[in-house]
Amino acid sequence: MTDDVLLVHGGTPISGEIRVRGAKNLVPKAMVAALLGSAPSRLRNVPDIRDVRVVRGLLQLHGVTVHSGEEPGELVMDPSRVERANVADIDAHAGSSRIPILLCGPLLHRLGHAFIPGLGGCDIGGRPVDFHFDVLRKFGATIEKRADGQYLEAPQRLRGCKIRLPYPSVGSTEQVLLTAVLAEGVTELSNAAVEPEIEDLICVLQKMGAIISLDTDRTIRVTGVDRLNGYTHRALPDRLEAASWASAALATGGSVYVRGADQRSMVTFLNTYRKVGGEFEVDDDGIRFWHPGGPLKAIALETDVHPGFQTDWQQPLVVALTQASGLSIVHETVYESRLGFTEALNKMGGHIQLYRECLGGTPCRFGQRNFLHSAVVSGPTKLEAADLVIPDLRGGFSYLIAALAAQGTSRVHGIDLINRGYENFMDKLESLGARVERPNGS
Ligand code: EPU
Repeated sequence: MTDDVLLVHGGTPISGEIRVRGAKNLVPKAMVAALLGSAPSRLRNVPDIRDVRVVRGLLQLHGVTVHSGEEPGELVMDPSRVERANVADIDAHAGSSRIPILLCGPLLHRLGHAFIPGLGGCDIGGRPVDFHFDVLRKFGATIEKRADGQYLEAPQRLRGCKIRLPYPSVGSTEQVLLTAVLAEGVTELSNAAVEPEIEDLICVLQKMGAIISLDTDRTIRVTGVDRLNGYTHRALPDRLEAASWASAALATGGSVYVRGADQRSMVTFLNTYRKVGGEFEVDDDGIRFWHPGGPLKAIALETDVHPGFQTDWQQPLVVALTQASGLSIVHETVYESRLGFTEALNKMGGHIQLYRECLGGTPCRFGQRNFLHSAVVSGPTKLEAADLVIPDLRGGFSYLIAALAAQGTSRVHGIDLINRGYENFMDKLESLGARVERPNGS
């Protein structure tokens, strides 16, 4: 389908200014939190991306009225008439997203039951949901698997409990938060994820009246309350999108001012950026990222849970590493299959070798399990245009970066996937001087 293809004429540095809005990995969850309130909630800085549209639709299917607020990017959600949704409608609407699983706790509280269809999301590993269901069972939910999905019931009010996550999973931590706030008694969650988006979700819930404490040892304690209010909240900026544009500036030898980028949530990325040889300057409204000229430096990089180097920063930065002098080592410890996208970079002239061993300093869960989860990137290499098929959200953006950095015209297929998490990326590319076009000229 030509609609889903982009021609990228590479070899020109991108330069200019773009703006990031609320974080893709917070906004949909804050929208789910609105279901827990007894009054309307107002969320600001909401980007126009597919994941937001999916959750908006799911909320509406469950009787929540959702409309735009006074300022651009503001959503007002009124949950006063939450009702059961039609299973087929949920399925049809949600198939492309993993967010529906986070509706479980709020729907169990509001209605006593919930339905979860087969889940989508990016193909970057098995993406199991076992932690989520284990957690929900601990709160007292029953779960029945049927052909079309999972049916959950809360025979009585859910009860607080002690939970230790096998891994600090972001989604499972959110599942616990969204369920524990209205559960009876205290919930203690150890080995929790503490990503900035989770802290922001805690802020949302606290505004609603929840009692949540976060200790330095990854323990979260929630004292359940009987009732929550609505909230008014401005979503934290998208640090993952900001880093994607920063990597694009570096890989193409350009300069991008990312309005809205927030230093506090990007400290680890910024350190790494500087080690590679990228320059940045922080001001009150954003961060300017640029390639200062001269060779970039190879680095050793290990992805990890926060405050480590976020896995979603990895793929875009790897494209820039193909331009660095020497051998860079990348150890992906969060998703077992997040390096498959490098095959296409090799097709374009990159030299990236994958390994099953843990090449970083820390042995990870994937070392003994036959996953190609470490990479050695040797550079600098000249990238040449190619035909590319987008594999997942961040990998897809990385292909755009590679095509922009390459000599010649690349055809990038499947670009619609990028709309899941990058607001108006076509307009942004054009405003940065990228030479991109739809093959039919539309
Ligand atoms: N895991 C399990 N069982 C579970 C849940 C997770 O084994 O029940 C494993 C996963 O397979 C993975 C690890 O735990 O190996 C971490 O997964 P996590 O639960 O933290 O990821 P997630 O909540 O599904 C969110 C983001 C991802 C981001 C990760 C890590 C959203 C919608 N997605 O996923 O974002 O990479 O946290 O920070 O918030 C993206 O933006 O492109 C993206 C994939």
